[in-house]
Amino acid sequence: MQWNFQEIHQQAQTEAQAINSPQALEAFRLKYLGKKGLVAAVFASLGTADPSQKAAIGKGANDLRGLVEGLIAAKSAGISTAKVSGEQVDFSLPGTGEVLGHTHILTQTMQEIIAVFEQMGFVTIETPEIETEFNNFTGLNIPIDHPSRDAFDTFYLDAEDPSAQGRRLLLRSHTSPGQVRIMKQHKPPMAVIVPGRVYRPDAVDASHSFMFHQIEGLLVDEKVQFSELKGLLTEFCRRFFGPKVVMRFRPHFFPFTEPSAEVDINAEILGIQRKKWLEILGCGMVNPKVFEAVGYPKGKYKGFAFGMGVERMAMLKYGINDIRLFYENDARFLKQF
Ligand code: PHE
Repeated sequence: MQWNFQEIHQQAQTEAQAINSPQALEAFRLKYLGKKGLVAAVFASLGTADPSQKAAIGKGANDLRGLVEGLIAAKSAGISTAKVSGEQVDFSLPGTGEVLGHTHILTQTMQEIIAVFEQMGFVTIETPEIETEFNNFTGLNIPIDHPSRDAFDTFYLDAEDPSAQGRRLLLRSHTSPGQVRIMKQHKPPMAVIVPGRVYRPDAVDASHSFMFHQIEGLLVDEKVQFSELKGLLTEFCRRFFGPKVVMRFRPHFFPFTEPSAEVDINAEILGIQRKKWLEILGCGMVNPKVFEAVGYPKGKYKGFAFGMGVERMAMLKYGINDIRLFYENDARFLKQF
Protein backbone atom coordinates (compact mmCIF):
# COMPACT_ATOMS: atom_id res chain seq x y z
CA MET A 1 0.00 0.00 0.00
CA GLN A 2 1.16 3.51 -0.79
CA TRP A 3 1.02 6.15 1.96
CA ASN A 4 1.02 9.81 1.09
CA PHE A 5 2.57 11.00 4.32
CA GLN A 6 2.65 14.63 3.27
CA GLU A 7 -1.08 14.62 2.79
CA ILE A 8 -1.68 12.72 6.03
CA HIS A 9 0.40 15.25 8.00
CA GLN A 10 -1.50 18.13 6.53
CA GLN A 11 -4.81 16.45 7.24
CA ALA A 12 -3.84 15.86 10.90
CA GLN A 13 -2.82 19.49 11.28
CA THR A 14 -6.08 20.76 9.82
CA GLU A 15 -8.09 18.45 12.04
CA ALA A 16 -6.14 19.48 15.13
CA GLN A 17 -6.89 23.12 14.47
CA ALA A 18 -10.62 22.45 14.59
CA ILE A 19 -10.50 20.66 17.96
CA ASN A 20 -12.43 22.63 20.61
CA SER A 21 -13.43 20.14 23.29
CA PRO A 22 -11.83 17.37 25.32
CA GLN A 23 -14.11 14.87 23.50
CA ALA A 24 -12.90 16.00 20.07
CA LEU A 25 -9.31 15.78 21.29
CA GLU A 26 -9.84 12.20 22.44
CA ALA A 27 -11.46 11.25 19.11
CA PHE A 28 -8.47 12.76 17.33
CA ARG A 29 -6.07 10.79 19.53
CA LEU A 30 -7.92 7.51 18.83
CA LYS A 31 -8.06 8.16 15.11
CA TYR A 32 -4.27 8.41 14.87
CA LEU A 33 -2.75 6.75 17.93
CA GLY A 34 -5.45 4.24 18.96
CA LYS A 35 -5.04 0.48 18.59
CA LYS A 36 -6.97 0.64 15.33
CA GLY A 37 -5.63 4.05 14.48
CA LEU A 38 -3.75 5.23 11.44
CA VAL A 39 -0.26 4.90 12.91
CA ALA A 40 -1.00 1.27 13.83
CA ALA A 41 -2.34 0.68 10.32
CA VAL A 42 0.82 2.09 8.75
CA PHE A 43 3.00 -0.17 10.88
CA ALA A 44 0.75 -3.16 10.06
CA SER A 45 1.20 -2.50 6.35
CA LEU A 46 4.94 -3.12 6.75
CA GLY A 47 4.24 -6.87 6.71
CA THR A 48 3.09 -6.87 3.10
CA ALA A 49 5.13 -3.94 1.88
CA ASP A 50 7.70 -4.07 -0.84
CA PRO A 51 11.09 -4.50 0.92
CA SER A 52 12.41 -1.39 -0.83
CA GLN A 53 9.57 0.66 0.72
CA LYS A 54 9.86 -0.64 4.29
CA ALA A 55 12.36 1.94 5.57
CA ALA A 56 10.32 4.86 4.24
CA ILE A 57 7.06 3.49 5.63
CA GLY A 58 8.63 2.90 9.07
CA LYS A 59 9.99 6.41 9.14
CA GLY A 60 6.65 7.81 7.95
CA ALA A 61 4.79 6.02 10.75
CA ASN A 62 7.21 7.27 13.40
CA ASP A 63 7.06 10.82 12.09
CA LEU A 64 3.28 10.72 12.05
CA ARG A 65 3.17 9.54 15.67
CA GLY A 66 5.55 12.30 16.71
CA LEU A 67 3.53 14.92 14.89
CA VAL A 68 0.19 13.78 16.36
CA GLU A 69 1.62 13.59 19.91
CA GLY A 70 2.91 17.13 19.52
CA LEU A 71 -0.44 18.38 18.24
CA ILE A 72 -2.28 16.72 21.14
CA ALA A 73 0.09 18.22 23.72
CA ALA A 74 -0.26 21.70 22.26
CA LYS A 75 -4.01 21.38 22.00
CA SER A 76 -4.68 19.99 25.48
CA ALA A 77 -3.08 23.05 27.11
CA GLY A 78 -5.48 25.33 25.26
CA ILE A 79 -8.52 23.09 25.36
CA SER A 80 -9.26 23.81 29.04
CA THR A 81 -9.95 27.38 28.07
CA ALA A 82 -13.69 27.07 27.86
CA LYS A 83 -16.38 29.56 27.31
CA VAL A 84 -18.50 30.03 30.41
CA SER A 85 -21.37 32.47 30.07
CA GLY A 86 -19.52 34.40 27.42
CA GLU A 87 -16.44 34.80 29.57
CA GLN A 88 -13.07 33.20 29.00
CA VAL A 89 -12.15 31.05 31.96
CA ASP A 90 -8.82 29.28 31.93
CA PHE A 91 -9.34 26.17 34.02
CA SER A 92 -5.70 25.23 33.70
CA LEU A 93 -4.60 28.22 35.82
CA PRO A 94 -3.72 27.47 39.47
CA GLY A 95 -6.58 28.30 41.84
CA THR A 96 -6.72 31.36 44.04
CA GLY A 97 -7.93 29.84 47.33
CA GLU A 98 -10.23 31.79 49.61
CA VAL A 99 -8.24 33.59 52.29
CA LEU A 100 -10.14 32.86 55.48
CA GLY A 101 -9.76 35.02 58.53
CA HIS A 102 -9.54 33.58 62.02
CA THR A 103 -10.30 34.57 65.59
CA HIS A 104 -8.20 37.37 67.06
CA ILE A 105 -5.37 36.30 69.34
CA LEU A 106 -7.14 37.85 72.34
CA THR A 107 -10.34 35.94 71.59
CA GLN A 108 -8.31 32.76 71.21
CA THR A 109 -6.62 33.40 74.54
CA MET A 110 -9.95 34.09 76.26
CA GLN A 111 -11.44 30.93 74.77
CA GLU A 112 -8.44 28.93 75.96
CA ILE A 113 -8.64 30.30 79.51
CA ILE A 114 -12.41 29.75 79.61
CA ALA A 115 -12.00 26.19 78.34
CA VAL A 116 -9.61 25.32 81.19
CA PHE A 117 -12.00 26.63 83.83
CA GLU A 118 -14.99 24.99 82.20
CA GLN A 119 -13.12 21.67 82.28
CA MET A 120 -12.84 22.24 86.02
CA GLY A 121 -16.57 22.78 86.41
CA PHE A 122 -16.90 26.56 86.15
CA VAL A 123 -19.80 28.15 84.29
CA THR A 124 -19.29 31.23 82.08
CA ILE A 125 -21.54 34.25 82.59
CA GLU A 126 -21.17 37.62 80.88
CA THR A 127 -22.28 40.75 82.70
CA PRO A 128 -22.64 44.30 81.29
CA GLU A 129 -19.76 46.67 80.60
CA ILE A 130 -21.86 49.59 81.79
CA GLU A 131 -22.14 49.37 85.54
CA THR A 132 -23.41 51.14 88.60
CA GLU A 133 -21.15 52.60 91.25
CA PHE A 134 -22.67 50.11 93.65
CA ASN A 135 -21.64 47.03 91.66
CA ASN A 136 -18.25 48.38 90.62
CA PHE A 137 -17.25 49.81 94.03
CA THR A 138 -19.65 49.95 96.99
CA GLY A 139 -20.81 46.33 96.89
CA LEU A 140 -17.16 45.31 96.67
CA ASN A 141 -16.33 47.14 99.89
CA ILE A 142 -14.40 49.85 98.06
CA PRO A 143 -14.72 52.92 100.33
CA ILE A 144 -16.33 56.10 99.08
CA ASP A 145 -13.01 58.00 99.18
CA HIS A 146 -10.98 55.30 97.43
CA PRO A 147 -8.75 56.75 94.68
CA SER A 148 -10.00 54.21 92.11
CA ARG A 149 -13.39 55.94 92.25
CA ASP A 150 -11.82 59.13 91.03
CA ALA A 151 -12.71 60.31 87.54
CA PHE A 152 -9.00 60.00 86.72
CA ASP A 153 -9.27 56.25 87.24
CA THR A 154 -12.78 55.45 86.04
CA PHE A 155 -14.78 56.51 83.00
CA TYR A 156 -18.10 57.96 84.16
CA LEU A 157 -20.96 58.21 81.70
CA ASP A 158 -23.10 61.23 81.20
CA ALA A 159 -26.10 59.20 82.40
CA GLU A 160 -27.68 58.90 85.79
CA ASP A 161 -27.93 55.51 87.47
CA PRO A 162 -31.70 54.79 87.54
CA SER A 163 -31.23 52.84 90.77
CA ALA A 164 -29.32 55.57 92.67
CA GLN A 165 -30.32 59.23 92.51
CA GLY A 166 -27.47 61.59 91.69
CA ARG A 167 -25.08 58.73 90.86
CA ARG A 168 -23.76 58.29 87.38
CA LEU A 169 -23.31 55.06 85.45
CA LEU A 170 -19.75 54.11 84.55
CA LEU A 171 -17.69 51.77 82.39
CA ARG A 172 -16.62 48.94 84.66
CA SER A 173 -12.98 49.28 85.68
CA HIS A 174 -12.69 45.54 86.41
CA THR A 175 -14.82 42.41 86.00
CA SER A 176 -15.37 42.15 89.77
CA PRO A 177 -18.82 43.86 89.62
CA GLY A 178 -19.82 40.62 87.87
CA GLN A 179 -19.39 38.96 91.28
CA VAL A 180 -21.91 41.34 92.83
CA ARG A 181 -24.42 40.95 89.99
CA ILE A 182 -24.24 37.17 90.01
CA MET A 183 -24.45 36.82 93.78
CA LYS A 184 -27.44 39.17 93.88
CA GLN A 185 -29.19 36.82 91.44
CA HIS A 186 -28.02 33.37 92.47
CA LYS A 187 -27.58 31.36 95.64
CA PRO A 188 -24.48 29.28 96.37
CA PRO A 189 -23.00 26.84 95.66
CA MET A 190 -21.60 28.44 92.52
CA ALA A 191 -18.46 28.42 90.44
CA VAL A 192 -18.51 31.03 87.69
CA ILE A 193 -16.16 32.93 85.44
CA VAL A 194 -16.94 36.33 83.95
CA PRO A 195 -14.91 37.29 80.88
CA GLY A 196 -15.03 40.68 79.23
CA ARG A 197 -13.75 44.17 78.54
CA VAL A 198 -12.83 46.63 81.26
CA TYR A 199 -11.94 50.32 80.99
CA ARG A 200 -9.52 52.63 82.77
CA PRO A 201 -8.43 56.12 81.67
CA ASP A 202 -4.76 55.07 81.60
CA ALA A 203 -2.33 56.78 79.28
CA VAL A 204 -1.59 54.30 76.51
CA ASP A 205 1.93 52.82 76.44
CA ALA A 206 3.54 49.42 75.79
CA SER A 207 1.83 47.89 78.80
CA HIS A 208 -1.26 50.07 79.34
CA SER A 209 -4.43 50.58 77.39
CA PHE A 210 -7.68 52.38 78.26
CA MET A 211 -9.51 49.17 77.42
CA PHE A 212 -8.36 45.67 78.15
CA HIS A 213 -9.79 42.26 79.03
CA GLN A 214 -10.17 40.42 82.28
CA ILE A 215 -11.54 37.09 83.38
CA GLU A 216 -13.10 37.05 86.80
CA GLY A 217 -13.54 33.85 88.77
CA LEU A 218 -15.82 33.29 91.76
CA LEU A 219 -16.50 30.17 93.77
CA VAL A 220 -18.86 30.24 96.75
CA ASP A 221 -19.95 27.39 98.99
CA GLU A 222 -20.26 26.63 102.67
CA LYS A 223 -16.72 25.36 103.11
CA VAL A 224 -14.04 26.90 100.91
CA GLN A 225 -10.37 27.33 101.75
CA PHE A 226 -7.49 29.40 100.50
CA SER A 227 -5.54 26.19 99.73
CA GLU A 228 -8.24 25.30 97.19
CA LEU A 229 -7.83 28.66 95.49
CA LYS A 230 -4.09 28.10 95.37
CA GLY A 231 -4.49 24.59 94.01
CA LEU A 232 -6.96 25.72 91.36
CA LEU A 233 -4.80 28.58 90.10
CA THR A 234 -1.67 26.44 90.10
CA GLU A 235 -3.41 23.79 88.03
CA PHE A 236 -4.81 26.47 85.73
CA CYS A 237 -1.34 27.96 85.09
CA ARG A 238 0.11 24.53 84.35
CA ARG A 239 -2.60 23.82 81.83
CA PHE A 240 -2.38 27.24 80.22
CA PHE A 241 1.39 27.82 80.16
CA GLY A 242 2.58 24.22 80.33
CA PRO A 243 4.03 22.09 83.14
CA LYS A 244 7.27 24.08 83.38
CA VAL A 245 5.59 27.26 84.61
CA VAL A 246 6.85 28.74 87.87
CA MET A 247 4.50 31.01 89.80
CA ARG A 248 4.41 32.73 93.15
CA PHE A 249 1.65 33.99 95.42
CA ARG A 250 2.54 37.38 96.83
CA PRO A 251 0.48 38.92 99.68
CA HIS A 252 -1.54 41.91 98.50
CA PHE A 253 -4.59 43.95 99.42
CA PHE A 254 -8.00 44.17 97.78
CA PRO A 255 -11.01 45.58 99.65
CA PHE A 256 -13.23 42.75 98.39
CA THR A 257 -11.01 39.82 99.36
CA GLU A 258 -9.36 38.99 102.66
CA PRO A 259 -6.73 37.63 102.72
CA SER A 260 -5.61 38.66 99.23
CA ALA A 261 -2.72 37.79 96.98
CA GLU A 262 -1.30 38.55 93.58
CA VAL A 263 0.09 35.82 91.37
CA ASP A 264 3.28 36.38 89.42
CA ILE A 265 4.69 34.22 86.65
CA ASN A 266 8.42 33.73 86.19
CA ALA A 267 8.97 35.03 82.67
CA GLU A 268 12.59 33.80 82.53
CA ILE A 269 11.48 30.20 82.80
CA LEU A 270 8.99 30.70 79.98
CA GLY A 271 11.94 31.99 77.96
CA ILE A 272 10.78 35.60 77.75
CA GLN A 273 13.24 38.48 77.92
CA ARG A 274 11.35 40.81 80.22
CA LYS A 275 11.16 41.58 83.91
CA LYS A 276 11.70 38.34 85.80
CA TRP A 277 8.31 38.26 87.58
CA LEU A 278 5.16 39.39 85.82
CA GLU A 279 1.87 39.85 87.66
CA ILE A 280 -1.04 38.07 85.99
CA LEU A 281 -3.87 38.17 88.51
CA GLY A 282 -5.28 39.27 91.82
CA CYS A 283 -7.15 36.88 94.11
CA GLY A 284 -8.26 36.09 97.61
CA MET A 285 -11.01 34.84 99.90
CA VAL A 286 -14.25 36.76 99.39
CA ASN A 287 -14.54 39.43 102.07
CA PRO A 288 -17.62 38.76 104.30
CA LYS A 289 -18.58 42.40 103.68
CA VAL A 290 -19.26 41.51 100.03
CA PHE A 291 -21.54 38.64 101.07
CA GLU A 292 -23.31 41.12 103.31
CA ALA A 293 -23.71 43.63 100.46
CA VAL A 294 -25.39 41.04 98.22
CA GLY A 295 -27.71 39.95 101.02
CA TYR A 296 -26.30 36.53 101.92
CA PRO A 297 -26.93 35.42 105.52
CA LYS A 298 -24.09 36.34 107.84
CA GLY A 299 -21.40 33.71 108.32
CA LYS A 300 -23.07 31.10 106.13
CA TYR A 301 -20.81 31.14 103.08
CA LYS A 302 -17.18 31.25 102.16
CA GLY A 303 -15.68 31.76 98.77
CA PHE A 304 -12.72 32.79 96.72
CA ALA A 305 -12.37 35.12 93.78
CA PHE A 306 -9.72 35.99 91.24
CA GLY A 307 -9.35 38.36 88.32
CA MET A 308 -6.77 37.93 85.59
CA GLY A 309 -5.62 40.13 82.74
CA VAL A 310 -6.10 38.43 79.38
CA GLU A 311 -3.59 40.63 77.48
CA ARG A 312 -0.93 39.82 80.09
CA MET A 313 -1.59 36.10 79.70
CA ALA A 314 -1.30 36.29 75.92
CA MET A 315 1.85 38.45 76.12
CA LEU A 316 3.51 35.91 78.40
CA LYS A 317 2.40 32.89 76.46
CA TYR A 318 3.39 34.19 73.04
CA GLY A 319 6.23 36.56 73.94
CA ILE A 320 4.43 39.73 72.79
CA ASN A 321 6.08 42.86 74.17
CA ASP A 322 3.64 45.65 73.37
CA ILE A 323 -0.05 45.67 74.34
CA ARG A 324 -0.85 48.11 71.52
CA LEU A 325 -0.20 45.38 68.94
CA PHE A 326 -3.45 43.69 69.99
CA TYR A 327 -5.58 46.64 68.92
CA GLU A 328 -3.89 47.90 65.76
CA ASN A 329 -5.33 45.15 63.57
CA ASP A 330 -2.15 44.88 61.54
CA ALA A 331 -2.58 41.66 59.58
CA ARG A 332 1.18 41.02 59.73
CA PHE A 333 0.87 40.70 63.51
CA LEU A 334 -2.50 38.90 63.62
CA LYS A 335 -1.57 36.32 60.98
CA GLN A 336 1.08 34.88 63.27
CA PHE A 337 -1.41 33.38 65.67
N1 PHE B 1 -10.48 43.25 90.37
C1 PHE B 1 -9.09 43.15 90.71
C2 PHE B 1 -8.29 44.05 89.72
O1 PHE B 1 -8.83 44.43 88.71
C3 PHE B 1 -8.59 41.74 90.60
C4 PHE B 1 -9.22 40.84 91.61
C5 PHE B 1 -10.35 40.11 91.32
C6 PHE B 1 -8.67 40.68 92.86
C7 PHE B 1 -10.92 39.26 92.23
C8 PHE B 1 -9.19 39.84 93.79
C9 PHE B 1 -10.34 39.12 93.49
O2 PHE B 1 -7.14 44.35 89.93
